[in-house]
Amino acid sequence: MLNKINDAKEKFLQNIEKVDSAKLLEELRIKFLSRNGIVSMLFEEFKSVPSQEKRAIGQGLNALRQELQAKYEALKTRIESKGKASAPEIDLTLPGRAPAQGTAHLITQTMNEIISIFKKIGFSVITGPEIESDRNNFGALNFPEDHPARDMQDTFFINRDFLLRTHTSPVQVRIMESQEPPVRAIMPGRVYRNEAINSRSYCMFHQIEGLFVDENVTFAELKGTLVHFAKEFYGNNVKYKFRPSYFPFTEPSAEMDITCFICGGKGCRVCKHSGWLEILGCGMVDPNVFTSVGYDPEEITGYAFGMGIERIAMLKHDIKDIRLLFENDVRFLKQF
Ligand code: DAH
Repeated sequence: MLNKINDAKEKFLQNIEKVDSAKLLEELRIKFLSRNGIVSMLFEEFKSVPSQEKRAIGQGLNALRQELQAKYEALKTRIESKGKASAPEIDLTLPGRAPAQGTAHLITQTMNEIISIFKKIGFSVITGPEIESDRNNFGALNFPEDHPARDMQDTFFINRDFLLRTHTSPVQVRIMESQEPPVRAIMPGRVYRNEAINSRSYCMFHQIEGLFVDENVTFAELKGTLVHFAKEFYGNNVKYKFRPSYFPFTEPSAEMDITCFICGGKGCRVCKHSGWLEILGCGMVDPNVFTSVGYDPEEITGYAFGMGIERIAMLKHDIKDIRLLFENDVRFLKQF
C-alpha cells in the first residue's frame, strides 16, 4: 500500500509538469483529487488495510492528499492570475496614440506659397550656391569696388574672393551667363549678413529673387506682375504703391508698399503708424549688369525684384521676434 501511495505521488508530479492551462489543470484534478480520483480510491482501499498497519498508512495517505492538494491550489492561483494580467487590462475603447506629425517650417510654407504664384505665370525656379564669389555677389551686379553701396549689406567674407552671399541676386548673374534671353525665373534661397542679432535681424534669412529678360520688357510689366503677386498673396483688396529707391543693379529702382493688412491702412504698431508696409525691392535691370554677363543692353531689357521671406511671414502671422524662426522650438513651429 505504501508503494501505491508513492507511485500516486510520482505520477502526480509527472502530470503536473505538463499542466499550463485551466483545462489541463481541471483534468489533473479529476484524475487525482476528485471523488472518483486516484486519492479517493486509495482511501477506499485503506478501509481494508489490517489494523496494525493503519496508523503508518493513514499518515502516508493524509500527507499525500495534503501535498497534492497544496500543489494543485498553487498552480491554480498561478494560472488564474496569468489570465487576469493579459485579459481585462487591455481597454479596447481607449483611443490610440497618434504618431506626432511634423509640418513644413513656416519659412518653407511661405516660400512655397510665393513660388506657386509665380510658377503659374510662367516663372521657372532656379537655385544657386550659398558660397558665392565677390564678383557674382557684387561686381557683376554693378557694385563698384570700394563703393559705399557695398556697405548696404554687411558681409561674411571667406577670403578676398569668396563670401556667403548677402542676397539671392547673384543667381541672376549665373542664369544670364548660362543661357540666352528670354529668361523668366524666380530664385529662392538662404542669404547671410554679418549683422547684430536682435528681434528684427538675424545673421541669415531667406529671399526670393525674380528676373524677366527679353526684348522690350517694360516697367509696366514689372508693375503688372508684382501687383498680380500682391493680390494673390495678400488678397484682392490690397492697395499698393511703388516708391522710387536705389539698388546698384537696377535703374530705375523702386520699393513696393502695400496697405498694412493688420490695421487696413489706418495706422498701427506694425506699420509704424504709416498705414503702409514695404514688401519688396525691384527695378529695371541696369545696362551695366547686362554688359557684365555678356548680354547686349541695346537689344534687350528686363526687370528684377527681390523680397525677404522672414519679413513677409512675420508680418502675416504677427511674429515679433525673427529668432523664433531659427530656434526651431516645436511649440512655436507647430502653430503653423
Ligand atoms: N538684393 C536686394 C537686397 O537684398 C533686393 C532686391 C532689390 C533684389 C531690387 C532685386 C531688385 O532683384 O531688383 O536688398
